[in-house]
Amino acid sequence: MTFRVRSAAARREEIEANAARLGIDEAFISTLVDTFYARVRAHPRLGPIFNDEIGDEWDAHLAKLKDFWASVAMNAGRYSGKPVPAHTKLDGVSAEDFVIWLGLFRETLEDLSDSEETVDYFMQRAERIARSLKLAMFGLERVD
Ligand code: HEM
Repeated sequence: MTFRVRSAAARREEIEANAARLGIDEAFISTLVDTFYARVRAHPRLGPIFNDEIGDEWDAHLAKLKDFWASVAMNAGRYSGKPVPAHTKLDGVSAEDFVIWLGLFRETLEDLSDSEETVDYFMQRAERIARSLKLAMFGLERVD
């Protein structure tokens, strides 16, 4: 069996090259995060979960999520938070809520980008992160 071993620097360069090729920039990420969370807040099931937790701290939350997505999608390196404890502390969130979250995220991407590759690029990353959050929150049996 052969493994492809890449250095961290090579991985970073690959992320930056992919983002540049797909035209993913700070402006796109800012619009994506603003549009997505406006829809989350208006959603009958997800809205109350987020609004109860975030209250009047939405500006800070949106800024943090822009840093997060710029780091994930463009290697911006600005996010240094801890997503797992931010989610394991939430009460009443189910694995089905992740299906709704991912569906809204895909819809938002499809509305904002004509590029299927860009949609896939973000969705692959969101699905991978959702899987690890679900693993931490619900254990192995609810991961897929
Ligand atoms: C149904 C699914 C989800 C719910 C209900 C949810 C809810 C929340 C809430 C309420 C917070 C704020 C916590 C706080 O400020 O104390 C938060 C933070 C966050 N969420 Fe989610 N989330 C979900 C899925 C996701 C997914 C799939 C991602 C990534 C792809 C994500 C990324 C983040 C990040 C990066 C933070 C900031 C964590 C920090 O404080 O550094 N969330 N989420």
